[in-house]
Amino acid sequence: MSEEVIGLSPLDEAGIAAAVAAAQAAFAQASTLEELKVARLAHSGDNAPITFANTQIKALDKADKPTAGKLMGAARKAIQTALGEASARLEAEAEARVLAEEKVDVTAPVRRTPQGAAHPLSVLISDISDFFVGMGWEIAEGPEIEHEWFNFDALNFGSDHPARQMQDTFYICGVEQVGGADFESLTSLIMRTHTSPVQSHEMLRRGAPLYIACPGKTFRTDALDATHTPVFHQVEGLAVDKGLTMAHLKGTLDHFAKAMFGPQARTRLRPSFFPFTEPSAEMDLWFPQKKGGPGWIEWGGCGMVNPNVLINAGIDPQEYTGFAFGMGLERTLMLRHGIADMRDMVEGDERFSLQFGTRGRGI
Ligand code: DAH
Repeated sequence: MSEEVIGLSPLDEAGIAAAVAAAQAAFAQASTLEELKVARLAHSGDNAPITFANTQIKALDKADKPTAGKLMGAARKAIQTALGEASARLEAEAEARVLAEEKVDVTAPVRRTPQGAAHPLSVLISDISDFFVGMGWEIAEGPEIEHEWFNFDALNFGSDHPARQMQDTFYICGVEQVGGADFESLTSLIMRTHTSPVQSHEMLRRGAPLYIACPGKTFRTDALDATHTPVFHQVEGLAVDKGLTMAHLKGTLDHFAKAMFGPQARTRLRPSFFPFTEPSAEMDLWFPQKKGGPGWIEWGGCGMVNPNVLINAGIDPQEYTGFAFGMGLERTLMLRHGIADMRDMVEGDERFSLQFGTRGRGI
């Protein structure tokens, strides 16, 4: 602000008119209430030319005071009027904006509680089930609390097999509570350590031919850490029919691998041992995303059903052969989605599940 303007005289009619015009223009140009405030301080605040001129009236000659008073009164009134108009305009605009921004559609349906997401294991189980049903297989579920006979004996585990030891198996009905050796193995109740006993249940219940996939919970006395959890999931596959061979097993596994991991996936079998299969194999998966470069990674076990297992389930091994396989679902999910820590799958934090999307919500 120049000296000249600050020194506006209350008798300078042209100067006062210019100050009024400047104020009116500034108020009219303000496009927000904040801008109007700045303009108000400049044109009618303590340091404004008009305010200064007003304070000079008392120093005038008595004869000039009425003229100056009139001039100044009219000028200040004009400025107040312009300010009032501008602020009414801007307040109306601001209110209209708030009304538009905060518009609420009271007829829109509301969700009062967040919906969450299905756990990725549930989604995986339904994907796997869809895959096998698509091949004409059936889905079977056995009990999670299992007779020791189904979990071990029916599957050709010797009575001294190390997997029966307390460190692996959760016993519900203890050895000492039951008594004599044979009676004990028939009656002990345990948490099933794998989904393989569902094989025997279903063979006994439905006979052959049989094509089943059995996803479900399994239990072992492991401490929870990044790669172990005492409650985990497996999917078991069993096919019993006339003339089934390892070739059928390999074809099924490759097809399953592609469904889970994409078209480039395939499997490889390495000789191994399981009491319930003969021959038995470890199954590796070709894994392009493997740390340190593409390579084979262990995915599960498989083999041709041991004739003793068929006999124990009332199926004639002279007439029927079978193949079986089983793999961990946590491991499958970790491979498929690059999950590093199993505990994330156990803790039940909705933020973990939501990362996999809301597909299958409400399962
Ligand atoms: N039951 C085995 C486990 O828990 C996995 C398994 C291996 C299942 C070979 C099978 C099989 O059906 O043929 O480790």
